[in-house]
Amino acid sequence: MRPTKAIIRLSNLGHNYRELRKRVAPAKVAAVIKADAYGHGAVEAAQTLADLKTPPEYFAVAYAEEAKPLRKAGVKTPVLVFDLLSKDNLEEVVADNLEITVADERHLRLLSRAKLERRVAVHVNVDTGMGRVGTPYREAVAFIRKVAAARNVRLAGVYTHFATSDEKDKTFARLQTRRFKEIVDRLREEGVDYGVAHAANSGGVLDLPEATFDMVRLGISLYGYYPSLETSESVPLKPVMALESRVGSSRIYEKGETVSYGRLFMARRSTRIVSVPIGYADGVNRNLTHRMKAIIKGRIVPHVGRVTMDRIMFDVGDLDVRAGDRVVLIGEAGGKRIDAWDWSRALETIPYEITCAISKRVPRVYRR
Ligand SMILES: Cc1ncc(COP(=O)(O)O)c(C=O)c1O
Repeated sequence: MRPTKAIIRLSNLGHNYRELRKRVAPAKVAAVIKADAYGHGAVEAAQTLADLKTPPEYFAVAYAEEAKPLRKAGVKTPVLVFDLLSKDNLEEVVADNLEITVADERHLRLLSRAKLERRVAVHVNVDTGMGRVGTPYREAVAFIRKVAAARNVRLAGVYTHFATSDEKDKTFARLQTRRFKEIVDRLREEGVDYGVAHAANSGGVLDLPEATFDMVRLGISLYGYYPSLETSESVPLKPVMALESRVGSSRIYEKGETVSYGRLFMARRSTRIVSVPIGYADGVNRNLTHRMKAIIKGRIVPHVGRVTMDRIMFDVGDLDVRAGDRVVLIGEAGGKRIDAWDWSRALETIPYEITCAISKRVPRVYRR
């Protein structure tokens, strides 16, 4: 088998979870495991967290179908689906006992007309400024009252999502928090049982204690990354995913020899070039050409030549590297570290996209 693998350190996931949980206690935690747990493997992540002494009260996924493997694996924890209720997902929601998002009267009509054996648990998404989905905040109290009284419905929660909690300037996130708090306070005054109120994502948990409410929704921080370079690093996190391979071939290139498509790299002197069996089909973005590094034999070495679909090359200079030697693309070795931020900076993106993009062709190897 190809030596390329994503090593998933479940002990680091447990560490991050415990540290974050300490920060928000006594609030509940929804562990966000959408997109296959940001590329880490949803079933393994969920099982690891569910087995902890104080497990998450919820898991959260983007789409109903993402919950299917969890239920198949025997995960019993409540699962919140961020997607809006629709004709297309109602059956799955019922079959897998999921809690689904609603935001307008259409969703209530769909439920009231359905033939259901028991009520469907719903969370109302309130748009306090994210501008993506949700009931406009000015209409939220009236809508939530209707949801609480609607046929076939159990109101399990109300939530909102921040647009800027990962930015240094928290002015808008604070405004969103105040808008949401007003709604929650009104519901409480009116005696509406709204279930759990939740707003904070990782950025909120790190820097907006007033946004904790009854529950927080943790995604990227569970996987060991801060959501941006602007948030505080007030909770110690350890990256969960490492990406490793082994040298496939190694030889000296003489001055003037070139490497890969387009001949972007030409040896200026005699140097050793190694090839590694991973490429853009595995999630090594082609725009990382000449912008990534590897740790080989304790040294940080530069990428050379265009990233190809299945193979990338590094210039290891005078280092004695042979086929089979370990290559760390993301991770730590010999006191050196490369993390998803190094790729993110080169690609003008965020670690979320890096770990999600490590494709299914790369086997996940789980370490406890
Ligand atoms: C609605 C919602 N809540 C929470 C999260 C988790 O956010 P983060 O990964 O920044 O913690 C996400 C992810 O984007 C989300 O869409």
